[in-house]
Order: sequence, then structure tokens, then C-alpha cells
Amino acid sequence: MADIYTSREDEATVDDVLSKGLKVKAHKWTVLRLALAHSLKIPSQPDEELDRVAERGSEYQLEQVTGQGQGRNPVGQQQDFTDAICGLLSMHLGEDLFRDERAFRRHLQRHIRRGLREFRRGWRDSHDFHQFLYQELCAGVDREAEAGATDFGLLLVNALAEIGVRGEIVETQDGPRITRYQVRLEDPNHLDKVRRGLDKITFALGLQKYGVFPAETGQPKVIGLDVPRPRSTWGSASGADLLEWVRQDQDEPGLMLHPGVDVINHPFAFDLTRQPHLLVGGTTGSGKSICLHTLIISLLVGTPRDKLRLILIDPKKVEFAPYAKAESERIEVITDVVDARERLEALVAEMEIRTSALESAGVRDLTEGRNKGILNLPFIVAFVEELADLIMQEPMAEEHLIRLAQKARATGIHLVIATQRPDARTLNGLLRSNIPSRIALTVQKATESKIILDEIGAERLTGAGDMLIRLSGQPMQRLHGAFVTVDDIAHVIRAERRV
Ligand SMILES: Nc1ncnc2c1ncn2[C@@H]1O[C@H](COP(=O)(O)OP(=O)(O)O)[C@@H](O)[C@H]1O
Ligand SMILES: [Mg+2]
Repeated sequence: MADIYTSREDEATVDDVLSKGLKVKAHKWTVLRLALAHSLKIPSQPDEELDRVAERGSEYQLEQVTGQGQGRNPVGQQQDFTDAICGLLSMHLGEDLFRDERAFRRHLQRHIRRGLREFRRGWRDSHDFHQFLYQELCAGVDREAEAGATDFGLLLVNALAEIGVRGEIVETQDGPRITRYQVRLEDPNHLDKVRRGLDKITFALGLQKYGVFPAETGQPKVIGLDVPRPRSTWGSASGADLLEWVRQDQDEPGLMLHPGVDVINHPFAFDLTRQPHLLVGGTTGSGKSICLHTLIISLLVGTPRDKLRLILIDPKKVEFAPYAKAESERIEVITDVVDARERLEALVAEMEIRTSALESAGVRDLTEGRNKGILNLPFIVAFVEELADLIMQEPMAEEHLIRLAQKARATGIHLVIATQRPDARTLNGLLRSNIPSRIALTVQKATESKIILDEIGAERLTGAGDMLIRLSGQPMQRLHGAFVTVDDIAHVIRAERRV
């Protein structure tokens, strides 16, 4: 009997890595070991779904994967890493796997298969696999070494001098990706000069396309300058962090959303019912889908059952598919564009009925109706994963979305709309102007940033969940999204199904 099973898809990944990725000749199990290392870098547990292999690909023995029973090679090097790996897995899990060999093999397979899945998701075979792996495996490890290698503080003071500004660094704060330098200016009138010179400062620091962003410090002569660090030093808030923030929400009156943390790692949350609709824009690969997942998980975990209905519209049919598995009456997943159009039309009708109900109950909005116990309807949040795909195929859907954006706020119906194409053609002006709250992930052009935020800046973000958020009536803020994985989503869905 084999110890570890892989699926056909996994095997295709192993073959890809061997033929197009690694530049040295290697055994298949070398790829499995790399996948294991990759998975162990992810703090959440791999999903138990990975125990089941639908389409069998291949099978491996521990002898190959961990070197069990291999002893030492002719030059005396240890070749059996079974104990070391079992130790690492036990630490990751927080349980002693030395006592249960079957559980050890099961967890080993989960990690290996998750690592392979992450290779599929994160690596394109046109990219350098070695570099990909280095970035993934070393993220957050060499912080000290990397940060010390270049003294950005010194460079920053010099760069300021070049634009004619004298100042000294009074404090530095390390966030997950960015170091905030607080600079006290000799001449407080130079604040504007710094703001205008940001491009030159960025250039002097050798940051190329990533920008240095100004930040308020609350002190009159001191300006904060947010400087991105090398990617290998980055960290992210995890799915586990998200769940911890969200668990405190059950008694909150509104619909709390937790997209991530601010630049200096403080969790950030807001109430959707006050916003009341949200537009999320960003180029492909900028982190839109993961951002939507954090918002959906915020709602599912943080809101009592009778308080919420979710409508998840996903014309691409992939991203929201896991939620259908919950078989929950409060989640509808719609992948067909005609169905989506019809559902939005029905939602407009529901809005009209609710508007009359509010009138006859004599309350201003659903929140008031619920608080007074006279209108116990659930909030409804409709997510659209890719607006452009929906509108291109079903133009009428746009009319319904506009009506909802204009009038649904009081009735407890809210929209969260994502698009990778923030341009005038796919983003109707009327729709946009009725969605006051915006999240911009990285975009390609400053004009796209303007369309999403009414301001430039998002073209200078660092990608992978880095975002600017502008909520109605609040100043713009920079956030780093929580990094939820497929496993975190599966975990939430399993909990939803059990209820
Ligand atoms: N919050 C995050 N933290 C770290 N990496 C992220 C984050 N969000 C996205 N990424 C990275 O970016 C990739 C693309 O994210 P995804 O949400 O699929 O982008 P999009 O939907 O915009 O195409 C992810 O696979 C992940 O590697
Ligand atoms: Mg996406």
C-alpha cells in the first residue's frame, strides 16, 4: 500500500515543475518535498478534502518522500528526514503526530497536495520557478537581514535633500509590507514640497513602479512616508486572523466587513449598511477575488443566520463555486448570466415591496425597523464577481444594478461589485456615482485609479492585496488585504453546512 496519493492534476503540476521549472534534473519526490515546504509556510491547516483523491494520479512511499529507512548516504549525510518532517507537521498542527503514524501520513498528504495546488495557482510556467519559490519560501524570513542590507532611512534623508528639504527621521514603524518613516521637517512649509516630490523620492530609493505614499502623523511638523520593503520581507494577515476579528461581530448592529490591516498592521473594519454599496476595482491578479472572499467570510461568520441573505453572482463560474457546497438557504450562488439578470430584477421588486413596508411601519430604514422589532427582514447583500462579464452579456442587468444602487440603501439591500475593467464603457457613470464607497487594488494606469477612487495612486500599489479604500465621508486609507486561502473558505463553508 502506498503512503501518499496524488491526483492527476497534481501529477501534471509535478511534471510541469520538472520539465519547465527546475533547472536541475530531479526526482518527482523532490517536487513533493518543495510542495510540502511551501504548504508549511501557510499558517492555516490544509483542508481535509485533500484526503480524497478523485482521479488518482500517482502514489508514493514514505521511503521516497521523507527518506524513511534510508539512513545515511556514502559520505555520511543523513537521508532520513521522517522524524524532522513529523516534528514540523506536529508543530504546524499543534498535535503530536509521532504517536499516530496514519495521522502523520494523512497530514503529510494534505500538505503536499496543498503545496502542489499553490504551485498551480501562483506559478506560471513562463516565470522563473526558482525565483517564485525563493519568494514564497523566504517571505518574512530575512526581515532583519534584508532591511539592514539597504539603509532606506539614509537614502530617504538624502532624497529629501535632493528636492531641497531638510528633515530628520524621528521614528520608524514596520508594518507587514511597508516601513513608515516619520520625518520632522526643519521648515514646516516644506510639507507641500515633499508631497510634490514623491515621484523623485521614489526614484531616488530605486523603487521604480511602487510609490512612496504620504501619511498623516497627527504632529504638525512631522510627515509620515510609507516606503515599501523588498517582497521577501512581507507578511500578510491570515484567514485565522480574519476569523478572530470577525468572531467579535455577532452582536454588532450592522454588517461589519474586515478587508485587512492598515499600513502599520492595525485591523480595519467598517459597517456596510452605512456605506451602503461598494465598488472593488483592480487589474487581474491584484487580489480582487481574495478581497471579496474576506468580505463574504466577514458576513457569513459575523452575522446571525436570520439577519443575512447572500446573493453571489459569478459569471466566470469558478470563484464562488465553493459557497454552493454549503447548501445553505441563506446563500445563493448564480453563475448563469440570464439567471443573474432575472435575480437582480426580482431584487428590484423586493426593494419596492420593502420600501412600502418601511413606509407603513413608519421607520426610516431596515436597521430602525429591526431595532424596534417591527420589521424583521434579513439584510441582503449581492456580490458581483465581474461586472464587465455580466454587463457585456446581459446589458439589462445594468439597469437593475443602477436602480438598486440608487434606492436600495434604506431597505437593507446592499451591493458589492468587482471589476477588472474600470473604464467608462463597462462602468456606467450613473452606477459609479451611486456607489460611494470604493476599494482600488493595483491598477495598470493612473486613469483607472481615477475612475475607481476619483484620485490617482492605485497604479503605484505593490499588488497582492495592497489597496486604497475610500469610504463615504472618510479620508482615503491604505490597507493590506487579509490572505484567505481555499482552505479557509472550505472551513467556513463546512461550519455553515453543519448549522
Ligand atoms: N491579501 C493578499 N495577501 C497576499 N497575497 C495576495 C493577497 N491577495 C491576493 N494575493 C496574491 O495574488 C494572487 C491573485 O489574487 P486574486 O484575488 O485571484 O486576484 P484577482 O481576482 O484580482 O485576479 C493570489 O493568488 C495571491 O498569490
Ligand atoms: Mg479574480
